[in-house]
Amino acid sequence: MFPYGCNSLLLMRIAIILAIVSPQVSSQQASCLATRLSGAEDSGSYTLDVDGKEGPLPEFAVYCDFSGLDTMTVLHHNSEDRRRVSSGGDFHLQVAYQGSLEQIQAVVQKSARCQQFIRYECRNSPLRLAENVSWWETTANTRMYSWGGAGGRTGQCGCSVQQNCQPSPDQSCNCDANDTVWRTDEGYLTDLTTLPVVNVSLTAREGEGYLTVGPLVCVDESEFIPNEWWQIVLGTAILVFAAFFTFMPAFVRK
Ligand SMILES: *[C@@H]1O[C@H](CO)[C@@H](O)[C@H](O)[C@H]1NC(C)=O
Ligand SMILES: *[C@@H]1O[C@H](CO)[C@@H](O)[C@H](O)[C@H]1NC(C)=O
Ligand SMILES: *[C@@H]1O[C@H](CO)[C@@H](O)[C@H](O)[C@H]1NC(C)=O
Repeated sequence: MFPYGCNSLLLMRIAIILAIVSPQVSSQQASCLATRLSGAEDSGSYTLDVDGKEGPLPEFAVYCDFSGLDTMTVLHHNSEDRRRVSSGGDFHLQVAYQGSLEQIQAVVQKSARCQQFIRYECRNSPLRLAENVSWWETTANTRMYSWGGAGGRTGQCGCSVQQNCQPSPDQSCNCDANDTVWRTDEGYLTDLTTLPVVNVSLTAREGEGYLTVGPLVCVDESEFIPNEWWQIVLGTAILVFAAFFTFMPAFVRK
């Protein structure tokens, strides 16, 4: 007589619970992508628990960028301003992130790719990476003598890889021209095993220059995001499902 009676009540409850729970935005997801999948739409500051509730790392705030198809995690630091590097002696830039280095590394390890912008604008101020005069350091305190855009090649800047350093393509960096023209060496560091930049050292400074180190920007593993039609289909399915199992016992009783 009531073939679906018992199941329908159970299924109805599940459907209602699903309908209530699914649009809720939880503030402690493990990634920006998970935050977006849970319903968050606006880019902004979100609290992540990168290694989950069971993991030892505490929650921390990151900036989630939902403006594009890729979900991006932006890890800001305290030295993003363009810094003047004056002549004489050594210049050191210490980079302190919003989270601890363990938290930043956990984000990097979970990401499909990351990038960090680095630029040196120079006049009579060579970088001389191949002579170990300038470098940046990883979280493991390893000195990296490879500038942005060089794809990790030691002693080189992006222009060297592109073979268009000015004024001579034989240089390793534009700044190594060491002339009175303002020149720029810039590009993205992209090696997941060495990011983020912890500090930058420019020693034996000559001439003048400006150093800029951007935030660390990571893209989450999966490219899948719910868009409006997806949410409408799911929402409708849940409603139909709930309504069907709510009223069906009444029809069956007749
Ligand atoms: C620069 O550093 C690297 C590794 O730290 C070392 O192998 C190399 O000999 C150094 N080069 C110079 C010119 O000091
Ligand atoms: C750069 O140029 C200045 C001025 O011409 C010169 O004194 C200095 O020795 C040069 N530096 C290098 C590394 O060649
Ligand atoms: C660069 O950072 C490393 C790691 O935090 C630290 O050991 C080193 O002293 C720093 N160097 C400078 C010049 O601040």
